[in-house]
Amino acid sequence: MMFSQQRFFSTDLPRPEESELKNFCSRNILIILGFSCIIAVIALIAVGLTQNKPLPENVKYGIVLDAGSSHTSLYIYKWPAEKENDTGVVHQVTECKLKGPGISRYAQKLSEIDIYLTACMVRATQVVPKSRHQETPVYLGATAGMRLLRIENEQLADKVLAAVARSLSNYHFDFQGARIITGQEEGAYGWITINYLLGKFTQKPSWLNLKPNEDSALETYGALDLGGASTQITFVPQDKKIESPSNALHFRLYGRDYSVYTHSFLCYGKDQALRQKLAKDIQGTNGTLRDPCFHPGYETVMNVSDLYSSPCTKRYERTLPFDQFQIQGTGNYQQCQQSILQLFNTSYCPYSHCSFNGIFLPPLHGDFGVSL
Ligand SMILES: *[C@@H]1O[C@H](CO)[C@@H](O)[C@H](O)[C@H]1NC(C)=O
Ligand SMILES: *[C@@H]1O[C@H](CO)[C@@H](O)[C@H](O)[C@H]1NC(C)=O
Ligand SMILES: *[C@@H]1O[C@H](CO)[C@@H](O)[C@H](O)[C@H]1NC(C)=O
Ligand SMILES: *[C@@H]1O[C@H](CO)[C@@H](O)[C@H](O)[C@H]1NC(C)=O
Repeated sequence: MMFSQQRFFSTDLPRPEESELKNFCSRNILIILGFSCIIAVIALIAVGLTQNKPLPENVKYGIVLDAGSSHTSLYIYKWPAEKENDTGVVHQVTECKLKGPGISRYAQKLSEIDIYLTACMVRATQVVPKSRHQETPVYLGATAGMRLLRIENEQLADKVLAAVARSLSNYHFDFQGARIITGQEEGAYGWITINYLLGKFTQKPSWLNLKPNEDSALETYGALDLGGASTQITFVPQDKKIESPSNALHFRLYGRDYSVYTHSFLCYGKDQALRQKLAKDIQGTNGTLRDPCFHPGYETVMNVSDLYSSPCTKRYERTLPFDQFQIQGTGNYQQCQQSILQLFNTSYCPYSHCSFNGIFLPPLHGDFGVSL
């Protein structure tokens, strides 16, 4: 894939509807961007840093844990301390994948979180020079896996985050926080990442395109991000007026204003969408599901209780005469498509235009980049 760099830039991030973010980060916000094709997520997390501190040396480090629904990755970044005009190129020093599932799966085994984090955190203590440890920020951002746990059991989600925070504070780094980022933030970070990596924020309008309306030279890319538990769509619509306030973001980046549309569809990441489909299709069977979305010959057994354990399957939950069911793949594209389309309700829309489930969507505009 085309993106393999990890970079960051710093900026003020005026987000009236996200005062929580402002509290979390201090005056100046560094946004650390990570884009990894291998793990197929965009990892971009805000880290609060105090900019005015005099620095004895010219390299700084930062550690970001991207806690996705199915796994967590730790990224170590390094950048020159003297950032010209508040921007700088960050190099990813290393990526460390934590062994085990996403952090939400540790809800029932909080005591194992220490061990879960150990290997990669020890690696970080070795990679970051010892003299830098105290000033190196560590931040963990969790996404839809933890959003779902919070819906199911808010106290348990808090306990997981507290255990993570306790564990990360044990290292001699500057622990900045562990929290669940919002769907809007996730969408925004994905959009910023792709446009930063494509150089869309810093490109100068070319002389050829220097018409009275120079916008065409400065088109950004939209971002589509398919995760395990949620999926995001984020782009600059042609019409600046966004009908639904919760889908509107306003940034000022590199001296330009952007009005961005974003939506994060919880339960429509690939794992949770599959669960929805299975929960829908298992109704009315005898415990054997012949499933066109799996290839012929594929067979597996699933627990009904596991299927129903996610908030995403609640609307399909029924009392079934079996505790386990068997999936038998039949491999039929058309039937699979029909089955999956039933997960998208397009029968109502309170706005001028919707994607599905009554969610506002302005007319698509521009090119898109995709991360899986
Ligand atoms: C930083 O700002 C100065 C003054 O505005 C400008 O001359 C210089 O080119 C800028 N540097 C970068 C890397 O943009
Ligand atoms: C369920 O029905 C299928 C046919 O649709 C049959 O092949 C299978 O043996 C039945 N399974 C059980 C557990 O009764
Ligand atoms: C199903 O649940 C049982 C006990 O409730 C457990 O032992 C088993 O591992 C589960 N199976 C799967 C496929 O998760
Ligand atoms: C779609 O949503 C509408 C409004 O919530 C609801 O009345 C309808 O039953 C839904 N259709 C399906 C197929 O779920």
